[in-house]
Amino acid sequence: MIHIVPKPTDTPEDNSTGAVIRELERACARYRLLDLAAIDPLNSRLEQELIWVCGIRQDLHQFETLDVLSLSNRIINTPAAIATCASKVMTTALLMRHGVRTPETVYLSSEEQARDFLMRHGKVVYKPVYGYDGNGIRLVTEPGDLGPGPWYLQEYVPNDRDFRVFVLGGEAVGAITRISRGLMHNIHQGGIGMPVEIDDEMRAIAEVSAAVVGVDYCGVDLLCDREGYTVLEVNGTPNWHCMAAPIPKLLASYLVECERKMRA
Ligand SMILES: Nc1ncnc2c1ncn2[C@@H]1O[C@H](COP(=O)(O)OP(=O)(O)OP(=O)(O)O)[C@@H](O)[C@H]1O
Ligand SMILES: [Mg+2]
Repeated sequence: MIHIVPKPTDTPEDNSTGAVIRELERACARYRLLDLAAIDPLNSRLEQELIWVCGIRQDLHQFETLDVLSLSNRIINTPAAIATCASKVMTTALLMRHGVRTPETVYLSSEEQARDFLMRHGKVVYKPVYGYDGNGIRLVTEPGDLGPGPWYLQEYVPNDRDFRVFVLGGEAVGAITRISRGLMHNIHQGGIGMPVEIDDEMRAIAEVSAAVVGVDYCGVDLLCDREGYTVLEVNGTPNWHCMAAPIPKLLASYLVECERKMRA
């Protein structure tokens, strides 16, 4: 039995959980939905089960519940990996530590240091540490526009598009580029996505990024400059909009296979 935590942002038109469930049904896999809000992790009786987290609310009870469930169940992605990906600071730290190319980034609570970083680069990108879908991301060129701290600031990398690579079980299986006229190319911000071939460099940097944050599967966001790809972030509960690769089918097979191995 595969226990599924549905994505809270699913809609009838854009239903990630439903797309994978359809594939599980095609494969005759047994599943049930798991409502984290209805579980007391200290009295759950869930043991040795496979739990797939399609998405999760940024909610303390749900995070703690998953963390406790991970003591005696196999959770995909692990709560630790989801938490790491949710934090842009932690993700950047792991990328830097493992020598994965990422734009120069600081996380500061001193306004003086934030101004120095801005002066040095002239143009920086401010991001909320736990942001998603491009919410709250701003280009900053004037010290007066830094806003309140602390500041996660990244050098601005000139570009007209970004890339999202879907990595599953250590392997890059699909990629899109997203193009827009604005700073952010996220589809939620009006970007247009289209499938692209996975080139060797893209494959290598996406696969190593997935490995350093420790996910089963993820979406790795990249920019490309003259020196090649650079990693913006790793999404631990990613969507797969506009991918040509059959992601729901691949994800369903991965879950079935993981469960089979657990029972073997
Ligand atoms: N350093 C940068 N230089 C230029 N553009 C950037 C930079 N960082 C982010 N952007 C633009 O903003 C977009 C969103 O940034 P990022 O992927 O880091 O966060 P996010 O979109 O909030 O997270 P998520 O993908 O989980 O929704 C990028 O896809 C890119 O278009
Ligand atoms: Mg992104």
